[in-house]
Amino acid sequence: MIEVKDIKKSFGEKTILDGISGVFGTGKCNLIIGSSGSGKTVFTKCIVGLFKPDQGEILYDGKNMLEMDREERTALRQQIGMLFQGSALFDSMTVEQNIIFTLDMFSNMSYRDKKKRIDEVLERVELTGSNNKYPAEISGGMKKRVGIARAIVLNPKYLFCDEPNSGLDPQTSLVIDKLIKEITTEYNITTLVVTHDMNSVMEIGDHIVYLYKGKKEWEGNNKEIIFSKSDQLNDFIFASEFLQGAKAIRMLEVEGKIEEGTAVQEAEKLIGESEGQSS
Ligand SMILES: Nc1ncnc2c1ncn2[C@@H]1O[C@H](COP(=O)(O)OP(=O)(O)OP(=O)(O)O)[C@@H](O)[C@H]1O
Ligand SMILES: [Mg+2]
Repeated sequence: MIEVKDIKKSFGEKTILDGISGVFGTGKCNLIIGSSGSGKTVFTKCIVGLFKPDQGEILYDGKNMLEMDREERTALRQQIGMLFQGSALFDSMTVEQNIIFTLDMFSNMSYRDKKKRIDEVLERVELTGSNNKYPAEISGGMKKRVGIARAIVLNPKYLFCDEPNSGLDPQTSLVIDKLIKEITTEYNITTLVVTHDMNSVMEIGDHIVYLYKGKKEWEGNNKEIIFSKSDQLNDFIFASEFLQGAKAIRMLEVEGKIEEGTAVQEAEKLIGESEGQSS
């Protein structure tokens, strides 16, 4: 479990994180959502220790990272897996060399054990036999899977994924989301995923934190998000007028203001209207 308490971070005069608290559970996919520039990456970088917050506490299973000595920090770092925004593979290295790099940095394993471990993680992300391919030779989705294999190679307790679906088509995104979710449950990892992909939110959002103007504007799960009463969140999720209308109808149905089962007809009317407007 990761708990953050009252995190603040500014760059010069500009406040990016203005006192954010939250609890991110073990074995769960915790999502950080928010519009571009809302501070998702800065928040994640604070949690993993790449940025030092100006204020606040970051507790990894109860232990404040900001008060750890160098040895404790190194030990913690080895328990953290990261999938960076864009897969961040080294282009001049093969898939296997990209993963071995992490093992060389953080483990004392023998070459044989490293090879064995690489084959294990490549199998887990369904890339068996891709060891000697270069990043340029594989698809975007495969690159993400290599990134995931690299992130889990040290059996992390904590996994951070920054925009795992950027640049992928919706179906491939779903495959990556499911993989992250499966791995999280299978190895009981505390996972934090930064995303603005609404499909991911609905598919894997066990716990969702919405950042707006440096604050936590809303939190909840993927079932609750559709019924949120936060205007900012609704503008963010239901970006198009059509989706906002669809939500309004769903709410009326839930509140019993329209007859159950008539929502589809109401939605069809809405589609008719929006098509009428656009033609
Ligand atoms: N190293 C830095 N120095 C100064 N300002 C920074 C730095 N890193 C980020 N910022 C600023 O912090 C704000 C939040 O940036 P951040 O990258 O966290 O946004 P984001 O929510 O991840 O956006 P996106 O969805 O586009 O990735 C931006 O205004 C950005 O310019
Ligand atoms: Mg970002």
